[in-house]
Amino acid sequence: MKGIVFTEFLQMVEDVFSANMVDDIIDETNPASGGAYTNVGTYDHREIVNMVIELSKRTGIGVNELIRSFGQHLFMRFTLGYPGFFQGIDDAFVFLSGIENIIHAEVRKLYPDAELPRFETEYYDAKKLILLYKSSRHFEDLAEGLILGCIDHFKQNISVQRETVGDGESRYERFSLNLLD
Ligand code: HEM
Repeated sequence: MKGIVFTEFLQMVEDVFSANMVDDIIDETNPASGGAYTNVGTYDHREIVNMVIELSKRTGIGVNELIRSFGQHLFMRFTLGYPGFFQGIDDAFVFLSGIENIIHAEVRKLYPDAELPRFETEYYDAKKLILLYKSSRHFEDLAEGLILGCIDHFKQNISVQRETVGDGESRYERFSLNLLD
């Protein structure tokens, strides 16, 4: 996983908890990379999973909730770091339906070694958007947090439901978004 995800995560931990908490979760999980992350580096995604598990133990906040909150925070950071992706877009459905072919396609050009999920649009009209999230890394909670962060950003009244389809390694997540007014 690209270093930007790690640096943003550790910055959030520092801001919400403390710099000591950052040191503690790195020391305790002893990541193979050594724990000194740079935005452009690439690291084993299990290192962040281990740090989230450790953070959960130390804070009493559930792992799923921590990852979801991080996703929400990360989206806000993306709006600041990649303003070009937001030019001329004032609607969450327009933005989200372009993750695969526009946003992540551009991310792939910037970082050719990025390990990106697949997002398929199963249904799309003005009131409803159904996205299928498929990734061997199974960051469905991160995807949910990013979707929620996107909805916050565009300040729309949109409900989000998710369900797991299938089981085992081939399972994927279906996110159903409904515009409420
Ligand atoms: C400006 C918007 C966005 C940017 C710049 C961006 C960029 C990135 C980057 C750099 C990664 C890391 C790739 C790697 O680890 O090698 C990533 C991963 C990911 N992105 Fe995005 N992304 C954006 C929006 C979104 C949105 C809106 C969603 C969800 C609806 C999303 C879902 C994910 C997920 C779940 C991953 C983790 C990898 C995986 O699941 O396999 N991204 N993205």
